[in-house]
This record gives sequence, C-alpha cells and structure tokens, in this order.
Amino acid sequence: MSTAGSAIPTDIETFAFWERPHHERLAAFKWLRENDPVSWHPPAESLLLPPEANRYGFWAVTRHADIVEASRNKNFQSGQGVFMEDIDVATVKGALSFLVEDQPRHTELRGIVQSAFSPANVRKIDGWIRQHAHDLVAEMAPEGAADVVTRLSKVLPGLIFAHYVGVTDDEMRDRTVHAADQLGSWNDPAYTQTMTPMEVFGSAAQTLAATALELAALRRVEPGDDVVSWLVQTEFEGERMTDHDIASFFVLLSGASNDTTGHAISHSLIELQRHPEQKAWLLEDFEGRIDNAVEELLRWRPPIIHFRRTAREDCTLGGAEIKAGDKVVLWYESGNFDDTIFDDPFTLDLTRRPNRHLAFGGGGIHFCLGSALGRQLLKCALREVYTQLPDFEIQEPKVGFSNIFNSMRHLPATWTVS
Ligand code: HEM
Repeated sequence: MSTAGSAIPTDIETFAFWERPHHERLAAFKWLRENDPVSWHPPAESLLLPPEANRYGFWAVTRHADIVEASRNKNFQSGQGVFMEDIDVATVKGALSFLVEDQPRHTELRGIVQSAFSPANVRKIDGWIRQHAHDLVAEMAPEGAADVVTRLSKVLPGLIFAHYVGVTDDEMRDRTVHAADQLGSWNDPAYTQTMTPMEVFGSAAQTLAATALELAALRRVEPGDDVVSWLVQTEFEGERMTDHDIASFFVLLSGASNDTTGHAISHSLIELQRHPEQKAWLLEDFEGRIDNAVEELLRWRPPIIHFRRTAREDCTLGGAEIKAGDKVVLWYESGNFDDTIFDDPFTLDLTRRPNRHLAFGGGGIHFCLGSALGRQLLKCALREVYTQLPDFEIQEPKVGFSNIFNSMRHLPATWTVS
C-alpha cells in the first residue's frame, strides 16, 4: 500500500478500519486526501466473499475533484461491478440492472423509467408522501417510545417504492418491503443467524425478482399508472423488455430507494439531536429552511459511502498511474469533507450554500435517479417527527457495520404522549 507514513491507520481495506469510530475514519480519509489522494490498497476484506475469491486490490479516490472526474469520464466503467469485491458480474447485473451497465445499454434502460422520478413527478405526489409519513408517526405518537428504524425509517421508503411500482395488494407490499430491507442487510445479525451474507443478499434478490414477475403478469392484463406497467409496455429497438430485464430493474429500484433514504432519515434525526443549535435554527422556520438543511445533512452523513468503477484503458487520475482493468473506488463521503470545496467541512452548518456534496454521486450517467424522491421523503419524515413528537429524544442508537452504507439498525426514541 502506498500510504506509509500516515500518523493514523488508513487500512480502509480491512474490517478493523470500519470498526473504528466514525471521526477516526474521517481523519484517515483527510490524511489520504492531503497525502495520497489516489492510493493503492490490497483486496478488501469482504463479508460476501471468502478471501480466496477476492484477489484484486483497488485504487481509493478520496478528493472531491477526482471523484467528480472519475464519475463523468467514460474511461471509468460500471459494467464490471460497483462493489469493491469481485462478485460474479452476472449476479450483480441480475440484482442491480443499469447501475452496472455502461453506455449505450445504460442510457436505454435508464431512459425507460427516468421520467417517473423527475422532480415534477415527485412534486405531484408530495401530498401523498406527506400523508404516509404523517400516518406512520401518528401511529407511534400514543406509545411514547419506539424504535424509529423499524417504525418509520425503513417503512416509509418501502411504502413509497411499493406505490411507484404498482403494488396494491397488502401481502405483496409487506413481502416487497421486507425483501427490500433484507437486500442491503447482508451483515445484519437478524438475518445472518440463519443464512450466510451471500444467501441473505441472494434470497432477497430472488424474492424481489419473483414479485416483479408476478406483478408484471398482472399489469400485462390490467395496466395502471405505475413503473411495472410502463416496463411491460415499453419496446426497446422493436422488442419488449425481457422478464429478466424487468426483474433486475425492480430489484435495483427497491434496493436503491430503501436503504439510502431510510439511513438518511435515521442519521438526520441523530445529527439534529447532537447539534441542538442547528436543530433550533431549522425549527424556527421549518418550511423555509428544510431544503437547505437536507443538503447539509446528506453531506454530513451520506447514506452511500462509496461505489466502484473499473478503468477501461490506462490513464492518470490524481497523479496515480492507473492500468486498464484496475478497480477504482470513489469515496463519496471523503469528498464531502474536502476543504478545497467546503469551508470548515467538519462543522455541520445547515445554512451552507452552495453545497456540492456527493451523496447522490459525482455526476455523470449514474447520478442518482431518485434524488428528488429521496430528498422529499427525508423532508416529510423530519417534518412529521418534529411536529407530532415535539420533545422527541433518541436514546442509544445502534449503527450497522458496513463500508458501503452509513447504516442504522436501531434508533430507540422516547417522547411525551399528549
Ligand atoms: C437519500 C436518498 C438517496 C441517496 C443518498 C442515493 C444515492 C445514490 C448514489 C450515490 C448513487 C450512485 C451514483 C453514481 O454512481 O454516480 C445512486 C444511484 C441510483 N439511485 Fe439513488 N439514492 C437515494 C435515493 C434513491 C431513491 C429514492 C431512488 C428511487 C428510485 C433511487 C434510485 C437510484 C437508481 C435507480 C440509481 C442508479 C442510477 C444509474 O445507474 O443510472 N435512489 N443513488
């Protein structure tokens, strides 16, 4: 590894690194940005694969400018996988659809669902999202205490996803919401007591794929105004999408929308409690300030910490000589604390503007399709918590162990019942 000389460990490829406190990890990334911004690391320890199956090291890209460059440059491709591990490409494509495609296939597939997630379309269903958020918090309110992860953060994105894809049946909705949660929980003890991490991921993807096909069969007969109805009707170069295409679309959308937004809701609630003066500023004029606040909360704790690319040809990035076929990992969270872009990056400042955070990626063709929806869900969840549970207080949060998600397992909270 090329990071010898660091005063703090920068062994980001190890589990030990990800067990360290969050502020120590951020300090290591600061060191990398300043001393070795595109650094070489041995194969990452993996929960999904045994060591012998994960043989290749990776470049860690830690500066904002280099992450943006790699995100927008066609030389850095996604078609060979977006995780650090060498997971079989067919498996990843089956679960993550166009997230692991390059042009032109990526553009064709993304184009089919793009308009469903436009800011204008998300605004149209704002009232409906608010109502769901309101109802979930109203159900909790008389209880005085609850785990906010299981009652709100996980459930709200799942319900909205189910609506988008056209799930109307209660049993199918519960099955979809549960499998979407399982998909990103491959190291959660709740699942790994009975399955290996790869089985947790694989069986969730299978359940979602089967649900997609069931739904597709229904919508072929009775189309509605939803994503699966569009998928079954859309033609691609004169051909209908295959069942395989539809299923992997569905799995991608469920995974991409659920974990991200759920973790963002949980972390935002914690960070606002940790920064009472910032929270007070927000609550003085919630509707006028929440848009700005959400951007800073996403900068501060981006739900996705990294995604990977693979170099198509030899090139130079941030001074490093990268060879064709090398894995290049983009550390979005590191870019969010880059002081060449953000003044005083280690201060949470809800008034920060502009805010060029990388929570939704560094731009380019894979920029988050659901950014408008994710922001809207986060706003609605925070609004309802602070309106309906005024003295809401988090006890001891339980964060998940992960190098890809800033995840949250449990968030016990209390409030006064009015
Ligand atoms: C706060 C919430 C969210 C965050 C932080 C987030 C973050 C991200 C990031 C970092 C990427 C990869 C960007 C890249 O590689 O350049 C991504 C891609 C994606 N996101 Fe989100 N996301 C969120 C919510 C959602 C929601 C609600 C949806 C619902 C549809 C969604 C759908 C997608 C899809 C489909 C992609 C793949 C785009 C592509 O490959 O073209 N995301 N998201």
